[in-house]
Amino acid sequence: MAKGRRFLIAGNWKMNGLKKDGCALAKSVAKSLKKAKGKKQPFDRLVCPPYTLLSRVADAIKGSGVKLGAQDCHVAEKGAHTGDISPHMLKDVGCKFVIVGHSERRTDHREVDAKAKAKAEAVIEAGMIAIVCIGETLAQREAGRFISVNQRQLKGSLPAAATAKNTVVAYEPVWAIGTGLTASPEQAQEVHAVIRAELVKSLGEEEGNGIRILYGGSMNPKNAKELLAQPDIDGGLIGGAALNADDFRAVAAGCK
Ligand code: 13P
Repeated sequence: MAKGRRFLIAGNWKMNGLKKDGCALAKSVAKSLKKAKGKKQPFDRLVCPPYTLLSRVADAIKGSGVKLGAQDCHVAEKGAHTGDISPHMLKDVGCKFVIVGHSERRTDHREVDAKAKAKAEAVIEAGMIAIVCIGETLAQREAGRFISVNQRQLKGSLPAAATAKNTVVAYEPVWAIGTGLTASPEQAQEVHAVIRAELVKSLGEEEGNGIRILYGGSMNPKNAKELLAQPDIDGGLIGGAALNADDFRAVAAGCK
């Protein structure tokens, strides 16, 4: 990671957690990653539980320095959208971040780049930080199209007013999500460097170099350190390993 950027270690709990285990997990994460008084922490910490647990997790992590995020949102502030949740509601419950354009949303709900972009803009408009996810499928990688696919997704999903303060990009190769297959540090860095170049091209040196790019896809205590040592990997968006406080902490320990 380059100077001037801070690591972000983010847990995406996906559709996991009931009251009891979700609160217990949040408390353990808060305890194990609590910011030591007077000590500078080299990374930011974030948990993104399902909607049903946001309010409880907000209470459980209070005062720990761990931040709260959501996994998706609607583009509108309010209105007749049965079953949806607005960015303003998420802000109201204590969220600082919202993930948009996750590949599971793209697959399960046919979300396209333009939708991810509109959501990211709504998140920023509401005063939160958008985590914009992109990543190629196995077929696209095998066909040698992974660079152009990520460039296209980034262009289509990046909010118009993106800055280092309001936007984070997450590179999550679909073939590595929940599969135990991880991009090698070199494979990940190759794509992160392409994303960095695109960001600099469209936003200029300062913002483009300031935006954090997270890696996601079977990141775990074993592979985190090497991935996080790459120059353009500024943290992780962690699924499975974020459901265990010890593993989550061990991944965070890879931030050096
Ligand atoms: P896994 O860490 O379970 O592969 O999930 C990654 C992910 O999709 C995070 O958003």
